[in-house]
Amino acid sequence: MSAAPGSTVVTGAAGGIGGAVAQRLQGDGPLVLLDIDAAALHAAAGSLTGAQVEVVRCDVRDADAVGTAAERIATLGPVARLVCAAGIGPAQTDDGQQILEVDLRGSARMMAALRPLMVAGSAIVNIGSVASARSPLDADAALVDPLGDQWEATWSRVRPDAWTAYAYSKRGLWLHSRRRAVEWARDGVRVNIVSPSQTATALGAATIAENPEIAEFVSRIPMGRMAQPAEVADAVAFLAGPTASFITGVELFVDGGAGAAGQAMKPPTQGASIA
Ligand SMILES: NC(=O)c1ccc[n+]([C@@H]2O[C@H](COP(=O)([O-])OP(=O)(O)OC[C@H]3O[C@@H](n4cnc5c(N)ncnc54)[C@H](O)[C@@H]3O)[C@@H](O)[C@H]2O)c1
Repeated sequence: MSAAPGSTVVTGAAGGIGGAVAQRLQGDGPLVLLDIDAAALHAAAGSLTGAQVEVVRCDVRDADAVGTAAERIATLGPVARLVCAAGIGPAQTDDGQQILEVDLRGSARMMAALRPLMVAGSAIVNIGSVASARSPLDADAALVDPLGDQWEATWSRVRPDAWTAYAYSKRGLWLHSRRRAVEWARDGVRVNIVSPSQTATALGAATIAENPEIAEFVSRIPMGRMAQPAEVADAVAFLAGPTASFITGVELFVDGGAGAAGQAMKPPTQGASIA
């Protein structure tokens, strides 16, 4: 199947990984940069030359705002590629619910809102994390359907700390991506996830600065360093592009061999259990 013509939408486009993805995917149809941070968005747009760039300020926690963004994106025609890179982590908030809202439910909202604009050959790539390995498997059933009726009932009584919520959100994003990949495959819409280890962005640097155990984890990665945002973007470009036309429902790790070596990122706190 060839790639669908249409626009490319990148959430978290003002950030390190989203910005690198926007740079990597520019020039193939309209490019929509979406982020909550208006000033940083305009700066990111200014660094892109030669592409038709649209800037959309949107908080992915807000279903109405996501709907309004989708209406605006619809005026550009079909969506060929959606990359969900908007995210926050424990370095930015202690509130685990907020992490779930942005990283998991925000990405699920964007997928659902833009799905009607997708055609055969369209592709979604979400940004996960190796941190998903810390999510206890007994939470899976509560994570797979982040926009479902049961979400509020379950997560209003479970108050995970930020580290546990981050692991839950990335595990949930993988489970949800896989479910959507199966549901949307017959329509030719592919869904995959790229899961990096520590990456040299503002978020990655802040996390390391505050948590020596994560710096120690990075030192144990077989390739001995953090990922560069451009290396994550290259993996995204592959999965979003026509050379991945028969690949859907996979998690591609960009981790310098950490998974192969059996390394697990150790959370600084034990965290809550879903049970
Ligand atoms: N940097 C790492 O070490 C690392 C490792 C693995 C996974 N990731 C994941 O990659 C993604 C991008 O991370 P990054 O390192 O580029 O971080 P970043 O902080 O540089 O970028 C994240 C972007 O998301 C935006 N954002 C935050 N909340 C939002 C909201 N409610 N609505 C819309 N936009 C919002 C921010 O404004 C920011 O521009 C995140 O999902 C993160 O969990 C990062």
